[in-house]
Amino acid sequence: MKSFSQNSENGKKVFIQTYGCQMNEYDTDKMFEVLRHENYFHTDSHEDADLIILNTCSIREKAEHKVYSELGRLRDLKTANPELKIGIGGCVAQQEGEAILRRDSNVDFVFGTDNLFELPRMLRKIYKGEKISNIQRYDRKRVRNFIPEYTFQKIQHSRIRSHLTITKGCNNYCSFCIVPNTRGLEVSREPDQIIAEAERLVSTGTREICLLGQNVNSYIANGVDFVELLHLLDKLEGLQRLRFTSPHPKDFNEKLADAIVSLPTLCEHLHLPLQSGSDRILRRMRRWYTMETYFQKISMLRERIPEFSLSTDIIVGFPGETDEEFEMTIEGIRKIRFDLIYSFKYSPRPGTKAADYPGHLSESVKSERLKILLETQEKIVSERFQALVGTEQEVLIEGTHHRKKNTVTGRTRGNHPVSIKNSTKKAGDLMIVLITKANKNSLEGVPSSVIQSLGTKSLA
Ligand code: SAH
Ligand code: SF4
Ligand code: F3S
Repeated sequence: MKSFSQNSENGKKVFIQTYGCQMNEYDTDKMFEVLRHENYFHTDSHEDADLIILNTCSIREKAEHKVYSELGRLRDLKTANPELKIGIGGCVAQQEGEAILRRDSNVDFVFGTDNLFELPRMLRKIYKGEKISNIQRYDRKRVRNFIPEYTFQKIQHSRIRSHLTITKGCNNYCSFCIVPNTRGLEVSREPDQIIAEAERLVSTGTREICLLGQNVNSYIANGVDFVELLHLLDKLEGLQRLRFTSPHPKDFNEKLADAIVSLPTLCEHLHLPLQSGSDRILRRMRRWYTMETYFQKISMLRERIPEFSLSTDIIVGFPGETDEEFEMTIEGIRKIRFDLIYSFKYSPRPGTKAADYPGHLSESVKSERLKILLETQEKIVSERFQALVGTEQEVLIEGTHHRKKNTVTGRTRGNHPVSIKNSTKKAGDLMIVLITKANKNSLEGVPSSVIQSLGTKSLA
């Protein structure tokens, strides 16, 4: 949204701090679009801003604490500039509502995850001196197109890789998770709107789209299901790559595996959150799959695309998790060999089922288990990365290296970050790269002499 800083003399300046997941990043972009229409311009500095918004996350206690400590820091800015307006949006705002206004008198307005498009109305009120808490939910029966069209008709410059929300909310109520409370029940956007937004992104420079949803593969609207939507998007002229996050293992089926294998734009990478390797814990998490069914599902892909890349989320120290059950998670990740794991210590969330379960574990047990998990995974990642040395990979270039000269950076279809020396390619170009070195979390390579082809589907 850099275009945003032009002509800023006549407007107000807004700074938005984003916490949490990709959906919050997407929402932040939408807030910028909405505010641009109100003559607000983007600034990168707190000090410069007339309006500061924190787009918050409450997935774990730590994330929530970050917001309150940031508010503490903003206090001085407000004292120095009493005209400064401060707004809190996102998942903590949805959860806490008015309590935030009571807790901190510097906050001018609080708005929920369904209310970001009402920012103009809220701002008019706060400039009249009102304090606002607006966490009203959409009426699900009426709202399918919860993203107003004008926010994607006007996109000026988009990114090489862009997010696109297709569903929001979640009906699963996993026992540890606060998201159904903060994002509400699941709603899928109409396919026409999604296609229109995707077309707009591609026409303004996007080459890779990542579809977003809390349970993205349960998408269904106007009789179009997730796989059918993927087929529609795959046909988009100019779109090189398609990804999605997060799919739920219980809704991952053969039809989706077939689409991944056959659709040229769909990348050979999946982020499929496992959470635990113990069936008893998975049941208590209300995940509705077992370690065996999870393994069968990923085997459907690996049998057909051997170098398929897989990432996941794991929670350690869930209430009642025994040493043996934790060991099952370790065995599970040794068996599956993920390319990347996002691992978390269980954090009790207010209003969730698991918060009331017996058998909460101490911080030291959780930390010890996290350490073992990270050590196990580090070894596997290093072997997985090393196995790519000597292979040729298609890389989508995203820009130049921030330190190294004549070096560009991008990602493989398997989502591995790569830096490439001696390349004059530009952001948005595709190139075939010979991988020459594996670092801890990234790869290095050189331009390959191979004529460009699309991904491992055609390289194999
Ligand atoms: N919709 C996704 C998850 C979104 S939240 C899915 O169903 O997989 C991202 C990750 O945060 C989760 O996969 C989980 O691993 C982690 N997480 C969620 N709630 C948590 C909690 N209370 N404590 C620790 N980790 C949590
Ligand atoms: Fe949370 Fe479970 Fe929904 Fe994912 S599927 S957002 S973990 S309730
Ligand atoms: Fe956090 Fe809300 Fe996303 S709780 S992870 S910002 S859906």
